[in-house]
Amino acid sequence: MAKFLVQKSNPLKGEVTISGAKNAVLPIMAATLLTEEKCEIKDVPALRDVDVMCDLLESLGAAVYKDLDANRVEIQAGGDVLCEAPFDLVKMMRASILVLGALIIRSGRAVIHLPGGCAIGKRPVELHLKGLKAMGVEIDEEQLHRGIIDARAEKLKGTTIYLDFPSVGATEVIIMAAALAEGTTVLENAAQEPEIVDLANFLNKMGARIKGAGTDTIKIDGVDSLRGVSHNVIPDRIEAGTFMVGAAMTRGNVLIKNVVPDHLKAVIAKLKECGAYVEMGEDGVRVRGDLNEITATDIKTLPYPGFPTDMQSPFMALLTVAKGPSVVIETVFENRFMHVGEFNRMGANIKTSGNCSIIPGDKKLKGAQVVATDLRAGAAVVLTGLVAEGTTEVSQIYHIDRGYEKFVEKLKALGANIMRVEE
Ligand code: EPZ
Repeated sequence: MAKFLVQKSNPLKGEVTISGAKNAVLPIMAATLLTEEKCEIKDVPALRDVDVMCDLLESLGAAVYKDLDANRVEIQAGGDVLCEAPFDLVKMMRASILVLGALIIRSGRAVIHLPGGCAIGKRPVELHLKGLKAMGVEIDEEQLHRGIIDARAEKLKGTTIYLDFPSVGATEVIIMAAALAEGTTVLENAAQEPEIVDLANFLNKMGARIKGAGTDTIKIDGVDSLRGVSHNVIPDRIEAGTFMVGAAMTRGNVLIKNVVPDHLKAVIAKLKECGAYVEMGEDGVRVRGDLNEITATDIKTLPYPGFPTDMQSPFMALLTVAKGPSVVIETVFENRFMHVGEFNRMGANIKTSGNCSIIPGDKKLKGAQVVATDLRAGAAVVLTGLVAEGTTEVSQIYHIDRGYEKFVEKLKALGANIMRVEE
């Protein structure tokens, strides 16, 4: 198994260009099942999850042309589409659930064997199913108790659906199904993430009629068919936030290119509270940690536009070395503090109780053998490795490869002392 060796590094300096958003490209790739025509997707990040989604779409019968050196894929789901998603692919990527709505629309049936929970929580899908059932989908309850979604529907009818929680995946699955349902669907308490807006923009280009994406109420007027289109994926706000935090906590000076500052308001606000200098310019966002002392602040994760849960562990890396104590509250996932144990191996001395962590801060961290417990936590322990004395050895880095394109190369270009070694 490969691992990263990270040494204490100089402050990060230079420029980094952010890749396309993993959490935008995955639902957009799933949405290509909604047309028999060819779709071209550009600014696709070269990530393991993208490879898995390509394999999944191919296994369902789509023609996939992957050119990730050029960050583009072409997908054409012409002809018959199979209805069963292979378990060996679904277990590698929970986001496989995103094909659920499109499969039902396309072939009248979808069979997806759900993987169990993962490091950050049990990841239920009852809201996805609630929405589909409201549109007329029948779910085999027997099979569901065995962890298998077996869903059928001749025709989907638009209706009003209320989401008990603004689930990103449920919002995406329901939008895709409603795009080709009969009549109008109104989705209330919808997720408002920028990735939802990018999916809606892609679908509207295909001929869908979706209004209100990015707000908590989305209205979809079903249409008869959708056409193939070309689309550029939005930049990855979480990758951007990760590099912003790295610049601040290493006391560096980095220009982060290909960013939509609007997508990072909460993260930028918190970085400024910690004393980082953040300036939006023509060619990107400049983050400096070398002008003021980096001090503590408190974080509470919330659905967008609140502070993103995916930035909780990277930001906690900064708080371990910031001056003063911080409180981090995780409200989105029920078990997203697995990285605390890894930070503590380096001397962070964080205390956790329930969904709350207390970070004393002011720590002189020491390199240690640590594990990437999820893809964002993996990036977070790399960041602490940059400021810790000695060497930090990060294992289970396949998590990081799922969500950060060329992570080592981008960090090295900023002066980080990091290398990938095969064990
Ligand atoms: C998406 O996951 C992202 N993944 C996650 O990013 C991200 O952390 C999450 O949204 C929240 O922003 C992709 O987009 C591929 P949710 P998703 O449904 O859709 C609960 C990363 O690091 N819930 O909004 O699975 C659920 O248990 C990944 O890139 C229900 O209770 O997130 C969780 O506690 C990690 N019932 C909360 O809602 C449901 O039916 C948020 O889940 C659905 C969700």
